[in-house]
Amino acid sequence: MGNHKIIKLIAGFFFLAVVCLSIVFIRSDASTFLFHYFKDPSHVGSVLPSSSAVSKEMTRELKKNRPPYRILEVGAGTGVITEAISEFLQPEDLFDVVEIDPEFCQLIESKLPNHPQRKVHCLSVTQWHPDYKYDVIISTLPFNSLTPEVVHEVLDAYSRLIVPHGQLSYIEYMGLPGIKKIFLQGGDLEEFLAREREIAEFQKSCCCDRRTVCIWRNFPPTYVHRFRLISQNNPKKSI
Ligand SMILES: C[S@@+](CC[C@H](N)C(=O)[O-])C[C@H]1O[C@@H](n2cnc3c(N)ncnc32)[C@H](O)[C@@H]1O
Repeated sequence: MGNHKIIKLIAGFFFLAVVCLSIVFIRSDASTFLFHYFKDPSHVGSVLPSSSAVSKEMTRELKKNRPPYRILEVGAGTGVITEAISEFLQPEDLFDVVEIDPEFCQLIESKLPNHPQRKVHCLSVTQWHPDYKYDVIISTLPFNSLTPEVVHEVLDAYSRLIVPHGQLSYIEYMGLPGIKKIFLQGGDLEEFLAREREIAEFQKSCCCDRRTVCIWRNFPPTYVHRFRLISQNNPKKSI
């Protein structure tokens, strides 16, 4: 069998696996998500929405006894994590959701019950300039599939938007970067390394108190990274 046929066969199996998985997780959210992935893979970054295990880990900080928070969710998709955050809101919290895709924004507005403290803003987080900062940022942006320039802009936005010592949580799909790296060459490999550098530099320059948890109950399995940030717009302080 020629190389061409093997590649076609693997692609066919992959497609079948994705379709079967969507049927297994048969929720209209899963199929909406899959559809959006094929429409815009780099922004959506995954074929299925996050699992309840991921949203549980991402919202862990909100369940504690705590003062009122300003919370920002970036990249809401079909609203799995938006819904979980909404459940843990306390009366004086403020909750902003920033999502770039207008169809996802509409879906969240129509699907989730109204919540007086939650507002959905339909734009890129890099364009979001509120006149306050956030205590917690919860991001499910797919850094692995964004260009290094966009990763740089997004991380800049997080530093600008967070209070000193605020908490940032974000996801990283497990294994994918390592596997991808093996097959990349030339410009693609350079782009990949530039993206990794952006993230490493960001972590070095403005974060401390780092924690990473592996979540296997997700497709694909994912890391949830949690950092306490020292905002770049504020002088560095030790905690
Ligand atoms: C991996 S999906 C996560 C969706 C959902 N939070 C979940 O966990 O299932 C990433 C989401 O980020 C959104 N997104 C991508 N780039 C963005 C940006 N620059 N600003 C805001 N949202 C963005 C995509 O439209 C998509 O809904």
